[in-house]
Amino acid sequence: MATFEGRTFPEKPQLTMRWPRSRLCDHLPETLADGYSIRTYQLGDEHRFSELMQLGEFDPWDEGKLTYNLNRIIPEGWFFIDCTCSQLPVATAMCLHNYSGDAPFTGDVGWLACDPNHRGKGLGLQIAAFATNRFLAAGYSKIQLHTEYYRLAAIKTYLKVGYMPVVNSDGMRAMWRDTCQSLGWDFSPRRWRAETIEPI
Ligand SMILES: CC(C)(COP(=O)(O)OP(=O)(O)OC[C@H]1O[C@@H](n2cnc3c(N)ncnc32)[C@H](O)[C@@H]1OP(=O)(O)O)[C@@H](O)C(=O)NCCC(=O)NCCS
Repeated sequence: MATFEGRTFPEKPQLTMRWPRSRLCDHLPETLADGYSIRTYQLGDEHRFSELMQLGEFDPWDEGKLTYNLNRIIPEGWFFIDCTCSQLPVATAMCLHNYSGDAPFTGDVGWLACDPNHRGKGLGLQIAAFATNRFLAAGYSKIQLHTEYYRLAAIKTYLKVGYMPVVNSDGMRAMWRDTCQSLGWDFSPRRWRAETIEPI
């Protein structure tokens, strides 16, 4: 069982979402809520990043996990949103190169999190759009992400940015049907399949 936001959930396979292939030439609007600024990684961000991972209810980060991910981040691909009052980073996301034997130019948006004190202002959507633009500008042809089915705020965020669910089995179809029902989002597997088919 997994615990998230004080509730327990049975373990299930991760959900995958992919950027639609008809939108690989897009550039998303880069907006930011008032009172915040965006930047990429600066030396010393690691500690606050680890706090943000904790606030996002991810498993604890150690040196090994950080090194593994640092090896995969593309240049200018680790984003932070700072609160302009406190200068404290309050949201983060990474662009991770993830060649795994099929499509060479595969990139995963990973480790998206926002400090609970700053949620509800669209910072998740805004930082995810910057990360997506970074991959698009770099020419990635398979841009995707993985998440847990109970992370509904994140799933809605990614749907709103434009990512589409990958429905490649009956099990995934059932999970996405339930997720869409919880979010009041259109369940459109046929349309998603045409847009998320593996690139060569
Ligand atoms: C994902 C995250 C960054 C989004 O933060 P945010 O930008 O402040 O987003 P919000 O809290 O406004 O939520 C986004 C949307 O999901 C909705 N939402 C939030 N919790 C929800 C829930 N439990 N059920 C259904 N919808 C929910 C919100 O109402 C909002 O919808 P709207 O845009 O139509 O108003 C933040 O929730 C977070 O850090 N979560 C923990 C870490 C995490 O799960 N990361 C994802 C890893 S893949």
